Amino acid sequence: MRPLQIHSLAFADHHTKNRPFVTQPVVPPSVLVIFGASGDLTSRKLMPALAELIDRGFLSPQFSVVGVARTEMSDDDFRIRMATAVESAPATWAEATSRFRYITGEYTAPETFARLKETLNELEVQMGGVCNRLYYFAAPPSTFPILVNSLGQAGLNQPTTAGGFVRVIIEKPFGRDAVSAATLDDQVHAVFDEKQVYRIDHYLGKETVQNLLALRFANVIFEPLWNRQYVDYVEVTVAESLGVGHRGGFYEEAGALRDIVQNHVMQVLALILMEAPVRMDAHGIRDEKVKALQSVVTISEHDLENRVIRGQYDEGLSEGEKVNGYRSEEGVSPTSQTETYLAMRLTVDNWRWAGVPIYVRTGKRLPKRLTEVVMHFRPVPHLAFGQKLSKKLEPNSLIVRVQPDSGISLRFGAKIPGQAFAVRTTSMDFDYEEQFTEEDLDGYERLLLDALVGDQTLFIRSDEVAEAWRIVSPLLNAFADPDFPLGRYAAGTWGPTEADALLQRDNRKWRQP
Ligand code: NDP
Ligand code: BG6
Repeated sequence: MRPLQIHSLAFADHHTKNRPFVTQPVVPPSVLVIFGASGDLTSRKLMPALAELIDRGFLSPQFSVVGVARTEMSDDDFRIRMATAVESAPATWAEATSRFRYITGEYTAPETFARLKETLNELEVQMGGVCNRLYYFAAPPSTFPILVNSLGQAGLNQPTTAGGFVRVIIEKPFGRDAVSAATLDDQVHAVFDEKQVYRIDHYLGKETVQNLLALRFANVIFEPLWNRQYVDYVEVTVAESLGVGHRGGFYEEAGALRDIVQNHVMQVLALILMEAPVRMDAHGIRDEKVKALQSVVTISEHDLENRVIRGQYDEGLSEGEKVNGYRSEEGVSPTSQTETYLAMRLTVDNWRWAGVPIYVRTGKRLPKRLTEVVMHFRPVPHLAFGQKLSKKLEPNSLIVRVQPDSGISLRFGAKIPGQAFAVRTTSMDFDYEEQFTEEDLDGYERLLLDALVGDQTLFIRSDEVAEAWRIVSPLLNAFADPDFPLGRYAAGTWGPTEADALLQRDNRKWRQP
């Protein structure tokens, strides 16, 4: 889809079972330093991604990981923990983890970074001289300023004398609001050059999210319809059936707004709304995404209660099992006001989208895990069939399913076979897995690889972060007020009834997936 920047990388012909011969870039000898190495993200997402990259031959055989966190662990404890974090791991994984190292320490303590420096120097010697470094901030966002500062003070932001690269991946959310994001950006830039900074949003690593660009800009048939003349409204759903699990403490601070809307939803929206980029590269795509976000109208204070619905789940049934309400989850206050559901109506002030409402909903403990974008087209100007014969006909819609069962469905009217000229809606379906035999890379695999080869295209620029915070800012302020309504919903249902009213006011209904 876009040229992968490969710099001075070697190439290897790579062949494994069930996989075609492909020419793959091989990342030069590198060390991934993970801050937050004892946490959920590291075990659940980063380790499986690394195991896959190693097994597919993308990483140098000398690739290593240094974990840093406060939990006491020896190198061996860490190796075992990481080895077992990957279910049915390939044989290459056990071998790779045997090179991993672990440092116990506080991020505020200079000794932690002195030991890190020593460890990196040792690994550099083992790797034959050049040690490329990728730092990964997989710790709570409140630690990011401390980490940046400590790395700078230890001189670990500088390339080594042998000239390897030094880059940093920063997890989301970047800041807690517009002001703290700007401050964090200044702190980051005081230590790292923007070329070294990779602000990650794993939704951008998903094939189907990237496919929004292919759908729009590799085809001539959709783009002429992709505007206010033909699109009636847009629906974006990011639904999860899971609750907050063991992440209650984190979620209490984040809520759906900071956890999903400010980042994942805004990134998907930017790809739907943006103009065609001049080039499919880091500048081309990010320039257009930021313009799209700039056009999203800030919801005014007096409109908030009409445009925004927040909710919180009570106990209920999730996939047939009885589950707790949010306030009874581990690490959650019994009087918590944190939103686990959010729905809103956005508008966009530009020539392409003026007057087209965008309805967004996201939540935990909804009936199923589903991320989709639905473009609802306008009805035909005159329906010649008559009401009776066309009662099963809906206006056209295009459904882009990001996950699961990634694919695209085009819903259109067709004649029902028979003597009467009756019409009803039917569907033309494209299924990603059926159509492509190529193995895809999961979000974290793709983004780790991109950061290691130095491609920033699928990472977020600071002006995008600032625009996303600007859009959610009025909601942050409103939610800080305990009187702002907090709708209730039973776990396993599609959110509070107030969210239905949000669309009913415009004579519309959420799609029932
Ligand atoms: P966890 O709470 O599971 O892990 C946090 C890690 O940070 C632990 O290793 C903890 O280890 C370490 N840590 C270091 N200093 C502190 C400190 N002062 N306070 C608390 N922890 C500290 O969080 P997650 O792994 O879920 O999330 C980490 C980051 O990844 C967050 O920014 C989150 O938004 C992001 N993220 C997470 C996803 C997920 O699915 N988990 C998905 C997408 C993004 P120790 O206590 O040993 O120091
Ligand atoms: C993370 C959020 O960014 O995305 C989690 O912190 C959420 O709360 C996760 O569960 C969803 O990601 P995915 O890839 O499963 O849709």
